[in-house]
Amino acid sequence: MKKTNWYKDAVIYQIYPRSFCDGNGDGLGDIPGIISKLDYLKELGVNCVWLSPVYDSPQEDNGYDISNYRDIYKPFGTLENFKVMLDEMHKRGIRLIMDLVVNHTSSEHPWFKSAISDKNSPYRDYYIIKKGRKNGTKAPNNWSGFFGEGAWERIGDSEDYYLRLFAKGQPDLNWENPKVREEVKDILRYWLDMGVDGFRCDVITLISKDQRFKSVFPSLALRGRKYFVNGPRLHEYLHELYKDVYVNYDCMTVGETVLSTLDQARDLVIPEREELTMVFNFDHTDTDNHFGIKWFYKKFKLKNLKKVVNKWQHGLHGQGWNSLFIENHDQRRCVGRFNTDDKEYREASSKMLGTTYFFLQGTPFIYEGQELGMTNGDFEKLEDFVDVETYNIHALGERIKILKPFLKKTLFKCSRDNARTPMQWDDSEYAGFSNVKPWIKVNKNKSFINAKKEIEDQDSVFHYYQKLISYRKGNEVIKEGNYIDLLPHSSKIYAYKRELNGQEIIVVSNFTNKTVKNPLFNKLNGYKLVLSNYNNTNGTLEPFETRVYQNY
Ligand code: NOJ
Repeated sequence: MKKTNWYKDAVIYQIYPRSFCDGNGDGLGDIPGIISKLDYLKELGVNCVWLSPVYDSPQEDNGYDISNYRDIYKPFGTLENFKVMLDEMHKRGIRLIMDLVVNHTSSEHPWFKSAISDKNSPYRDYYIIKKGRKNGTKAPNNWSGFFGEGAWERIGDSEDYYLRLFAKGQPDLNWENPKVREEVKDILRYWLDMGVDGFRCDVITLISKDQRFKSVFPSLALRGRKYFVNGPRLHEYLHELYKDVYVNYDCMTVGETVLSTLDQARDLVIPEREELTMVFNFDHTDTDNHFGIKWFYKKFKLKNLKKVVNKWQHGLHGQGWNSLFIENHDQRRCVGRFNTDDKEYREASSKMLGTTYFFLQGTPFIYEGQELGMTNGDFEKLEDFVDVETYNIHALGERIKILKPFLKKTLFKCSRDNARTPMQWDDSEYAGFSNVKPWIKVNKNKSFINAKKEIEDQDSVFHYYQKLISYRKGNEVIKEGNYIDLLPHSSKIYAYKRELNGQEIIVVSNFTNKTVKNPLFNKLNGYKLVLSNYNNTNGTLEPFETRVYQNY
């Protein structure tokens, strides 16, 4: 199968199905709801969708806990609905990548149920089951997982434990077992044969674990990570999937590579190695936290963002492909983040952030609602949250006696639910998302931030994103050009140049809420302004102003 590298020309829109559109009036988003909004996506101009999990699932982690990889969660619709959606997307020139969650299954998956109910089950070795220490009274080692809990769960009152790096209901699969790998390949073929165009591979760097299962020196978070992140057989497993499956389809993969360094990521995406097409790195979303842990947030500094973007733009140029994103379902909204928490400038700063990442090299991803400048949720109390991680972190905070006001502030600011509030389609009671009370609170600002209003207003964030998308289309400078940071020492302005065979594009963005002098202004003779959020041409930049120039 000839690979066309279509992903290099893609702009990918992420749909979080629970929150996108409710087609059947039960307060939960679903596939019919998505189908009803495909014309909206077409109008926006995106040509690929990443769909967060729609598989059958008990929804402990909103679908990232799968109990049947070949069927759809009923409240989201049927397999028939799915096929119609896929077909309708393809008719509109929109491809579809699915979420592939194969580091773990749900504890409701028949494999797991069999594995824990019968020691001789052929599925026992599909999971990582180990004898506990001290006659089973202590977990096999002291590893801890991603949701603020220990990484092992005792099986009934037996001496055995299963590994789960996320919630209790998300047991890790044992990739050492070749049968597990064959199962995964079959799942991939099932969806690819149906016509899907690729996969976003959930926490893919966790699939290989160091088989010594050693305890580590105690630390507060993610104890044992050196033994379960980027494990010894990761590359081998990914290459195996590539040569046995991906090679036969014109598909792409994007790996979620938590805690990977540039060198590790490069090895995953160098095309000759045949592993992944691209990865999501999180260095830029970690510029406002300590140790890569979002709950330990700190003040954002533009210079740190530039440092990591420079590193990744140079580090992969000509070698592997980058992904570009500033939001997803695990991150809080970008408005109010990255120095832009001045409400007065919500629209300007949404456009500025969009511009700043859109002209970099790589495939841009837009998270639902980002194109409207949607903001964090307006949660008032703990009960307003739904997310399992948020509750686990709350429990952890109480256990280790974090001061209540501080704990509350941290959760409200950093909870993943901030990005999961219903998509704001109009200003009606439930924001046009549903006609009944949705599963999670609608943001009050739907009265003035909503798709209907933004489509009517030619100057809106929506129309600005349309321009960003159409400007990228077919633009070789953005696709292949090199990247130069023009003001590496400025703590206020992010300015960079993309260049290919003498053709140049320059992006200048003011990351402050003050008017600042544009130090590049006198050097821009011979360039024309092709896009901006203010339409100024003078030598100063207004708060959060962004300008894109091109040479003649
Ligand atoms: C990463 C996903 O993006 C997140 O939502 C999920 O909770 C974990 N992986 C576990 O699957």
